[in-house]
Amino acid sequence: MLYNESRTTHTDPLSSPARGRLITFEGIDGSGKSTQIDHLSRSLTASGHQIMVLREPGGTRIGESIRSILLDRSNTDMCMEAELLLFAAARAQIVQEVIVPELEAGRWIICDRFADSTTAYQGYGRQLDLAVIASLNQLAVGSCKPDMTIWLDLPVETALERLAQRERKQDRMDQENIAFMERTREGYRQLADAEPDRIVRMDATQSEKELAEMIYRTVREDLST
Ligand code: TYD
Repeated sequence: MLYNESRTTHTDPLSSPARGRLITFEGIDGSGKSTQIDHLSRSLTASGHQIMVLREPGGTRIGESIRSILLDRSNTDMCMEAELLLFAAARAQIVQEVIVPELEAGRWIICDRFADSTTAYQGYGRQLDLAVIASLNQLAVGSCKPDMTIWLDLPVETALERLAQRERKQDRMDQENIAFMERTREGYRQLADAEPDRIVRMDATQSEKELAEMIYRTVREDLST
C-alpha cells in the first residue's frame, strides 16, 4: 500500500468494503422489467443475499405521492420541466432515505428504474437539455451510482404488442407515441455505449426463462456473488 493510500480517510460512506450492491433495471415500457426483477430477486435471495426491491418513482412516502402526481392521467397539463423536476425530487428522496442507508448496512438493492430513466425519457424522449439532466441526476444521486445496470432492450413494436396484452389501466406516461419510445430506446443505446462497464444490454425478446438465467449469470459473474 502506498503511504498516501494508508492515510486516506474514507469520508464517502458508500466506499466501505461492507457496502451492499445497487443493481438497476432499465428499459422502455413493456420491456418486462418487473418480471425479471422478480426472478433476480428470488435467485439472489436463494443464494443467501438480503435483497430489497425498490421502484422509481416511488419507494418512499414522499416518492409515492410524487409518483401519483406523475402518473395521474388527468394531469395532461403537466409541463415537461415540472415532470423532470418531480422525477428528480422522488429520486433524491429515495437515495437519501432508503438507498444509501441500506447499502451501508450491506443490503443488496434492485431498483426498478433510476437516473438513466430520466436521461432516456426526459432527455432523449422529451428532448430536454441533456446537460441540465446530467446535473439534476448528479444532484439527486450524489455518489450513489449503480454497480450494475441491466438494460432490457427490445424493438418498440414488440414492447407495444406486450403492453397491449396486459390488462391494466394506462397511466399518463403510457400515452406517449411511437416516436417518443424510439427516441427513448435510442437514449438507452447512447447511455450503454458511453458506459459499457456498468450498463449491460440484454436482448429482451428472448424467452422469460432464458433471459432470467442470463441476467442471474451476469450478475453473479460481474458482482462475484
Ligand atoms: P414504471 O413504474 O417503470 O412503469 P411501468 O411499470 O408501467 O413500466 O415507470 C413509470 C413511467 O415513468 C414509465 O413510463 C417511465 C417513466 N419515467 C420517466 O419518464 N422518467 C424517470 O426518471 C422515471 C424513473 C420513470
